[in-house]
Amino acid sequence: MKAIVNVNRDWAIGRENDLLVYIPADMKYFRTVTKGKTVVMGRKTLESFPGKKPLKGRINIVLTRDLSRIPEESKAAADAVIDGSTAEGVAETVRLMKERHSDAFPQSAGEKSSDTPETILVIIAASVENLVLLCREAGAAGKDVYVIGGASIYKKLLPYTDICLVTVNDYLPPADAPADSWFPNLDEDPQWERTETGEMQEHDGIHFCFCTYKRVEE
Ligand SMILES: NC(=O)c1ccc[n+]([C@@H]2O[C@H](COP(=O)([O-])OP(=O)(O)OC[C@H]3O[C@@H](n4cnc5c(N)ncnc54)[C@H](OP(=O)(O)O)[C@@H]3O)[C@@H](O)[C@H]2O)c1
Repeated sequence: MKAIVNVNRDWAIGRENDLLVYIPADMKYFRTVTKGKTVVMGRKTLESFPGKKPLKGRINIVLTRDLSRIPEESKAAADAVIDGSTAEGVAETVRLMKERHSDAFPQSAGEKSSDTPETILVIIAASVENLVLLCREAGAAGKDVYVIGGASIYKKLLPYTDICLVTVNDYLPPADAPADSWFPNLDEDPQWERTETGEMQEHDGIHFCFCTYKRVEE
Protein backbone atom coordinates (compact mmCIF):
# COMPACT_ATOMS: atom_id res chain seq x y z
CA MET A 1 0.00 0.00 0.00
CA LYS A 2 0.93 3.65 -0.28
CA ALA A 3 0.69 6.58 2.06
CA ILE A 4 -0.12 10.17 1.20
CA VAL A 5 0.59 12.93 3.69
CA ASN A 6 1.37 16.60 4.11
CA VAL A 7 4.20 17.27 6.58
CA ASN A 8 6.25 20.23 7.66
CA ARG A 9 10.03 20.00 7.92
CA ASP A 10 9.69 18.46 11.38
CA TRP A 11 7.28 15.87 9.96
CA ALA A 12 4.41 17.43 11.91
CA ILE A 13 0.98 16.74 10.41
CA GLY A 14 -1.71 18.11 12.70
CA ARG A 15 -2.98 19.73 15.81
CA GLU A 16 -6.24 19.20 17.72
CA ASN A 17 -7.57 16.81 15.09
CA ASP A 18 -7.05 19.30 12.28
CA LEU A 19 -4.44 19.82 9.60
CA LEU A 20 -1.68 22.38 10.21
CA VAL A 21 -2.06 23.92 6.76
CA TYR A 22 -4.59 23.93 3.95
CA ILE A 23 -2.83 24.30 0.61
CA PRO A 24 -5.30 24.24 -2.32
CA ALA A 25 -2.80 22.66 -4.75
CA ASP A 26 -2.11 19.93 -2.22
CA MET A 27 -5.81 19.26 -1.65
CA LYS A 28 -6.22 18.96 -5.43
CA TYR A 29 -3.24 16.60 -5.65
CA PHE A 30 -4.72 14.47 -2.87
CA ARG A 31 -8.08 14.30 -4.67
CA THR A 32 -6.47 13.42 -8.01
CA VAL A 33 -4.30 10.68 -6.55
CA THR A 34 -6.96 9.03 -4.39
CA LYS A 35 -10.13 9.47 -6.51
CA GLY A 36 -11.67 6.10 -7.32
CA LYS A 37 -9.20 4.33 -5.02
CA THR A 38 -9.38 2.81 -1.57
CA VAL A 39 -8.37 5.07 1.30
CA VAL A 40 -7.58 3.88 4.83
CA MET A 41 -7.88 6.12 7.86
CA GLY A 42 -8.31 6.17 11.61
CA ARG A 43 -11.67 7.08 13.12
CA LYS A 44 -10.34 10.48 14.27
CA THR A 45 -9.30 11.45 10.76
CA LEU A 46 -12.78 10.52 9.49
CA GLU A 47 -14.20 12.81 12.17
CA SER A 48 -11.93 15.64 11.05
CA PHE A 49 -13.47 15.75 7.57
CA PRO A 50 -16.07 18.42 6.77
CA GLY A 51 -19.42 17.24 8.16
CA LYS A 52 -17.65 14.07 9.39
CA LYS A 53 -18.40 12.62 5.96
CA PRO A 54 -16.31 9.98 4.21
CA LEU A 55 -14.51 10.98 1.01
CA LYS A 56 -16.69 10.89 -2.09
CA GLY A 57 -16.03 8.44 -4.90
CA ARG A 58 -13.66 6.33 -2.85
CA ILE A 59 -13.83 3.19 -0.74
CA ASN A 60 -13.20 4.58 2.74
CA ILE A 61 -11.84 2.00 5.15
CA VAL A 62 -11.93 3.28 8.71
CA LEU A 63 -10.20 1.66 11.66
CA THR A 64 -11.84 1.81 15.05
CA ARG A 65 -11.80 -0.36 18.15
CA ASP A 66 -15.53 0.18 18.56
CA LEU A 67 -17.93 0.32 15.63
CA SER A 68 -20.33 2.50 17.62
CA ARG A 69 -17.76 5.34 17.62
CA ILE A 70 -18.29 5.95 13.90
CA PRO A 71 -20.36 9.13 13.60
CA GLU A 72 -23.90 8.71 12.26
CA GLU A 73 -23.18 11.55 9.79
CA SER A 74 -20.47 9.37 8.21
CA LYS A 75 -22.81 6.44 7.76
CA ALA A 76 -25.63 8.62 6.43
CA ALA A 77 -23.33 10.21 3.82
CA ALA A 78 -22.12 6.90 2.36
CA ASP A 79 -23.91 5.04 -0.44
CA ALA A 80 -23.05 1.78 1.25
CA VAL A 81 -21.83 0.92 4.73
CA ILE A 82 -20.05 -2.37 5.21
CA ASP A 83 -19.06 -3.92 8.49
CA GLY A 84 -15.58 -5.08 7.60
CA SER A 85 -15.22 -7.01 10.82
CA THR A 86 -17.51 -9.81 9.61
CA ALA A 87 -16.54 -12.50 7.09
CA GLU A 88 -19.29 -11.26 4.72
CA GLY A 89 -18.06 -7.68 5.08
CA VAL A 90 -14.51 -8.68 4.25
CA ALA A 91 -15.65 -10.63 1.17
CA GLU A 92 -17.77 -7.72 -0.05
CA THR A 93 -14.93 -5.26 0.50
CA VAL A 94 -12.47 -7.44 -1.40
CA ARG A 95 -14.98 -7.76 -4.25
CA LEU A 96 -15.44 -3.99 -4.41
CA MET A 97 -11.71 -3.32 -4.28
CA LYS A 98 -11.13 -5.66 -7.21
CA GLU A 99 -14.04 -4.20 -9.14
CA ARG A 100 -12.92 -0.61 -8.56
CA HIS A 101 -9.32 -1.23 -9.45
CA SER A 102 -10.15 -2.64 -12.82
CA ASP A 103 -6.69 -1.86 -14.29
CA ALA A 104 -5.30 -4.51 -12.00
CA PHE A 105 -8.26 -6.79 -12.64
CA PRO A 106 -9.29 -6.33 -16.29
CA GLN A 107 -12.93 -7.20 -16.81
CA SER A 108 -13.73 -9.97 -19.25
CA ALA A 109 -14.85 -8.96 -22.75
CA GLY A 110 -18.37 -7.54 -22.82
CA GLU A 111 -18.44 -6.98 -19.10
CA LYS A 112 -18.93 -3.36 -18.11
CA SER A 113 -15.79 -1.99 -16.57
CA SER A 114 -16.53 -0.41 -13.27
CA ASP A 115 -15.56 3.04 -12.19
CA THR A 116 -18.48 3.29 -9.82
CA PRO A 117 -18.51 6.74 -8.28
CA GLU A 118 -20.24 5.89 -5.01
CA THR A 119 -18.83 6.54 -1.63
CA ILE A 120 -18.38 3.33 0.30
CA LEU A 121 -17.71 3.26 4.00
CA VAL A 122 -16.09 0.12 5.35
CA ILE A 123 -15.62 -0.04 9.06
CA ILE A 124 -13.12 -2.38 10.60
CA ALA A 125 -13.02 -3.05 14.28
CA ALA A 126 -9.88 -3.38 16.28
CA SER A 127 -7.41 -4.61 13.80
CA VAL A 128 -4.68 -3.35 11.52
CA GLU A 129 -3.94 -7.04 10.88
CA ASN A 130 -7.46 -7.60 9.45
CA LEU A 131 -6.99 -4.63 7.20
CA VAL A 132 -3.68 -5.94 5.92
CA LEU A 133 -5.19 -9.38 5.32
CA LEU A 134 -8.06 -7.81 3.45
CA CYS A 135 -5.66 -5.87 1.19
CA ARG A 136 -3.69 -9.06 0.56
CA GLU A 137 -6.90 -10.91 -0.36
CA ALA A 138 -7.69 -8.12 -2.81
CA GLY A 139 -4.41 -9.00 -4.52
CA ALA A 140 -3.07 -6.35 -6.89
CA ALA A 141 -5.94 -4.06 -5.93
CA GLY A 142 -4.26 -3.78 -2.54
CA LYS A 143 -1.55 -1.71 -4.22
CA ASP A 144 -4.12 0.99 -4.91
CA VAL A 145 -4.80 1.44 -1.23
CA TYR A 146 -3.76 4.82 0.16
CA VAL A 147 -3.17 5.29 3.84
CA ILE A 148 -4.42 8.81 4.55
CA GLY A 149 -3.83 9.19 8.28
CA GLY A 150 -3.77 10.16 10.98
CA ALA A 151 -0.60 9.79 12.99
CA SER A 152 -1.45 6.47 14.66
CA ILE A 153 -2.53 4.82 11.42
CA TYR A 154 0.46 6.09 9.41
CA LYS A 155 2.76 4.67 12.07
CA LYS A 156 1.00 1.30 12.32
CA LEU A 157 0.75 0.81 8.57
CA LEU A 158 4.25 2.03 7.67
CA PRO A 159 5.69 -1.52 7.80
CA TYR A 160 3.18 -2.49 5.07
CA THR A 161 3.75 0.64 2.99
CA ASP A 162 6.24 0.84 0.13
CA ILE A 163 5.63 4.28 -1.34
CA CYS A 164 4.93 7.54 0.49
CA LEU A 165 3.71 10.60 -1.38
CA VAL A 166 4.86 13.38 0.89
CA THR A 167 4.06 17.05 0.43
CA VAL A 168 6.74 18.87 2.39
CA ASN A 169 6.00 22.41 3.55
CA ASP A 170 7.93 24.97 5.57
CA TYR A 171 5.07 26.04 7.88
CA LEU A 172 6.11 26.44 11.49
CA PRO A 173 3.23 26.35 14.00
CA PRO A 174 3.30 29.14 16.59
CA ALA A 175 4.83 28.32 19.98
CA ASP A 176 1.45 28.71 21.73
CA ALA A 177 -0.28 26.30 19.33
CA PRO A 178 2.28 23.58 18.61
CA ALA A 179 1.69 20.48 16.51
CA ASP A 180 0.53 17.36 18.34
CA SER A 181 0.70 14.74 15.54
CA TRP A 182 3.60 13.58 13.44
CA PHE A 183 4.41 11.24 10.55
CA PRO A 184 7.46 9.00 11.14
CA ASN A 185 10.59 10.88 10.00
CA LEU A 186 11.54 9.05 6.81
CA ASP A 187 14.71 11.14 6.35
CA GLU A 188 16.08 9.48 9.50
CA ASP A 189 14.96 5.99 8.53
CA PRO A 190 17.55 4.03 6.51
CA GLN A 191 14.73 1.86 5.14
CA TRP A 192 13.43 4.85 3.18
CA GLU A 193 14.85 7.13 0.52
CA ARG A 194 13.54 10.20 -1.19
CA THR A 195 13.36 9.40 -4.90
CA GLU A 196 11.61 12.51 -6.24
CA THR A 197 11.56 16.14 -5.19
CA GLY A 198 9.12 18.36 -7.05
CA GLU A 199 9.52 22.01 -7.89
CA MET A 200 9.21 24.38 -4.95
CA GLN A 201 5.82 26.13 -4.96
CA GLU A 202 4.28 28.78 -2.73
CA HIS A 203 0.85 29.47 -1.27
CA ASP A 204 0.12 32.28 1.15
CA GLY A 205 3.78 32.54 2.15
CA ILE A 206 4.10 28.77 2.70
CA HIS A 207 6.60 26.99 0.46
CA PHE A 208 5.95 23.37 -0.41
CA CYS A 209 6.94 20.64 -2.84
CA PHE A 210 5.58 17.23 -3.80
CA CYS A 211 8.06 14.46 -2.95
CA THR A 212 8.12 10.69 -3.21
CA TYR A 213 9.78 8.33 -0.76
CA LYS A 214 10.32 4.67 -1.55
CA ARG A 215 11.19 1.77 0.66
CA VAL A 216 14.80 0.82 0.01
CA GLU A 217 15.00 -2.56 -1.66
CA GLU A 218 16.91 -5.12 0.37
N1 LIG B 1 -1.16 16.24 7.34
C1 LIG B 1 -1.81 15.19 6.86
O1 LIG B 1 -1.60 14.80 5.72
C2 LIG B 1 -2.81 14.49 7.74
C3 LIG B 1 -3.61 13.47 7.21
C4 LIG B 1 -4.53 12.84 8.05
C5 LIG B 1 -4.65 13.22 9.37
N2 LIG B 1 -3.86 14.22 9.83
C6 LIG B 1 -3.96 14.65 11.22
O2 LIG B 1 -3.68 13.56 12.10
C7 LIG B 1 -4.31 13.84 13.35
C8 LIG B 1 -5.11 12.61 13.79
O3 LIG B 1 -4.23 11.55 14.07
P1 LIG B 1 -4.53 10.56 15.31
O4 LIG B 1 -3.38 9.63 15.43
O5 LIG B 1 -4.91 11.39 16.47
O6 LIG B 1 -5.89 9.84 14.86
P2 LIG B 1 -6.19 8.75 13.72
O7 LIG B 1 -4.98 7.92 13.45
O8 LIG B 1 -6.86 9.42 12.59
O9 LIG B 1 -7.31 7.88 14.43
C9 LIG B 1 -7.02 7.22 15.64
C10 LIG B 1 -8.11 6.21 15.88
O10 LIG B 1 -7.96 5.11 14.97
C11 LIG B 1 -8.40 3.93 15.60
N3 LIG B 1 -7.27 2.99 15.67
C12 LIG B 1 -5.97 3.25 15.85
N4 LIG B 1 -5.26 2.10 15.88
C13 LIG B 1 -6.15 1.09 15.71
C14 LIG B 1 -6.05 -0.33 15.67
N5 LIG B 1 -4.88 -0.95 15.79
N6 LIG B 1 -7.17 -1.02 15.49
C15 LIG B 1 -8.37 -0.42 15.39
N7 LIG B 1 -8.52 0.90 15.43
C16 LIG B 1 -7.43 1.65 15.59
C17 LIG B 1 -8.87 4.32 17.00
O11 LIG B 1 -10.25 4.63 16.85
P3 LIG B 1 -11.30 4.46 18.08
O12 LIG B 1 -10.91 5.48 19.08
O13 LIG B 1 -12.63 4.70 17.43
O14 LIG B 1 -11.16 3.05 18.56
C18 LIG B 1 -8.07 5.57 17.25
O15 LIG B 1 -8.63 6.42 18.23
C19 LIG B 1 -5.22 15.05 13.12
O16 LIG B 1 -4.57 16.22 13.59
C20 LIG B 1 -5.36 15.09 11.62
O17 LIG B 1 -5.66 16.39 11.12
C21 LIG B 1 -2.96 14.86 9.05
